[in-house]
This record gives sequence, C-alpha cells and structure tokens, in this order.
Amino acid sequence: MGMPSFRLDGKVALVTGAGSGIGAGIAQGLAAFGAAVGCVDISAAGLDATVQAITTAGGRAIALPADVRDEAQMEAAVASIEAAFGRLNAALNCAGVHDNAPALEMSRAQWQRVLDTNLSGVFVSSQAEGRAMLRNGGGSIVNIGSISAHICNRGLPQVHYNAAKAGVAHLSRSLALEWAQQGVRVNVISPGYTATPMARKPEVWEMVKHLVNDIPMGRMCEVDELVGPAVFLLSDASSYCTGIDLVVDGGAIRW
Ligand SMILES: NC(=O)c1ccc[n+]([C@@H]2O[C@H](COP(=O)([O-])OP(=O)(O)OC[C@H]3O[C@@H](n4cnc5c(N)ncnc54)[C@H](O)[C@@H]3O)[C@@H](O)[C@H]2O)c1
Repeated sequence: MGMPSFRLDGKVALVTGAGSGIGAGIAQGLAAFGAAVGCVDISAAGLDATVQAITTAGGRAIALPADVRDEAQMEAAVASIEAAFGRLNAALNCAGVHDNAPALEMSRAQWQRVLDTNLSGVFVSSQAEGRAMLRNGGGSIVNIGSISAHICNRGLPQVHYNAAKAGVAHLSRSLALEWAQQGVRVNVISPGYTATPMARKPEVWEMVKHLVNDIPMGRMCEVDELVGPAVFLLSDASSYCTGIDLVVDGGAIRW
C-alpha cells in the first residue's frame, strides 16, 4: 500500500480572496506545500502583498485582480493561470464580505451584496474552475463556508450572511455529486471565529470577544490553523473525500 501524499507538488491552485485574512494565509500555505498559486482578489493592493510573501519564500504565484461576481473575469483568471502554469487542478474559494443589520432594517441592496459575493461568487468561481478541471482530467475545489451555515451566531444579526453560507454548503454538495465520476472533488471548510480583518470590525469584534467564552477550546482560530485542512482537501491524501464539510471551530458548534 502506498502512503498518501499531503504534498501539493504538481498542483496549480486558484485562491479567491487571496488579498487578505484567511485567503492570504491559505495561499501562502499552499505555496509552501509545493503548489503554484494564482491569487485572485478584487483588491489589487492585498494581492501584491500575498504574491510578494510567496515569492520571497521561494514559492510560485501570480496576482490576478478579479471580481468573483463576474463570469468573464473569473474565466480570464483561470485562462491566465493555465497560461502561466500549464493547468488548473486545485481551487479554494474564499472571497467574501460581511456586515450586520436586523432583518427588518436590512435593505434589498444590503441583502443582495452579500448573496452576490458569498454565494453567487462561489458558484461563478466553481463554474470557471470546474470547467477547466473537467477539461483537464480532474481536480479538487474547496469552498470556504462558515459555522454560520450550521448555527445562527448569537448576537450577530446577519440573515443574509447565514443564508449565503448555508447555500455554499449545499451548492458544494450538489457540485460534488454532479462531478464525482469525472474526477473533480468539491468540499467545504467551515471556519469558526477567525482573527482576520473581517472578524476585527468593531461591531463584530465586541460580540466575538464575548462569544469566545462559548468555544470549548477557549480561543479564536488563527489563520494558520486553516492551512492544514485546506492542504488535506486539495491534496491526494483526501482522494476519497467529496461533498464533505470540514468544520474547523475549536468545538464551537458542539455546545
Ligand atoms: N473571519 C472569520 O471569522 C470567518 C469565519 C468563517 C468564515 N469566514 C469566511 O472566510 C472568508 C474570508 O474571510 P476573512 O475573514 O479572511 O475576510 P477578509 O475581509 O480578511 O478577506 C476577504 C477578502 O475577499 C475579497 N473580496 C471581497 N469581495 C470580493 C469580490 N467580489 N471578488 C474578489 N474578492 C473579493 C476582499 O477584498 C478580501 O481580500 C469569507 O468567505 C468569510 O465569510 C470568515
């Protein structure tokens, strides 16, 4: 029996939301494990910092400014990765936005912005990535969900965010089953409260500090702690995993 490899040598990955927080950390982690990484973000400044960190550490990466809500931009990002690195066989969709409002005060525009980015953006990204992988013999896609797909975070009025993340979970299962026999795996990572700019916004941060008391491990997740789960799901070590939702939350949703 051959031992499975957690290495990502030979993998070419696209990471959305790679300009900040979880996406930036995972992009660097994938490169450290041997992948070439196409870094996608709507913010060019953040992207440059991520690519610089990867190349300074001896890895391979390119910056691809793009909006995950735009099909043509995501198709172009995939084409640029294939031109630069020869293929696309791994993808991690992490781009997302967040804000709060009680349901009765939430405007349609506020609802739509979060649904467009956090749910439709994952569909548009997966579609562009899946098309390339199906054409080239397979690959692995990981979509970043949230514990907000499993629970409704106490004290955070975010019906749009919770609905979008629940949608990501079932969208991913649906794609997993559609593509299971064609060599493309689709899985979810659902992080708990993670110390990033999104969680440190004042209105979220006050509540998250309080919610830490409800986490069995007694602390927030560090971005680095999401690298291992991402490497696992994008490597051949998880070759029989598809349609799963890997919750990485210090036990938070078990209480
Ligand atoms: N921080 C947490 O506690 C937490 C917990 C669970 C899940 N998540 C999820 O993890 C993901 C990353 O969150 P984060 O905390 O790193 O946030 P972050 O704000 O640090 O990073 C999000 C990135 O997404 C990019 N982005 C936003 N809209 C985009 C678009 N239309 N096209 C391309 N890029 C776009 C932003 O520019 C930013 O660089 C999100 O999907 C978020 O919902 C975060």
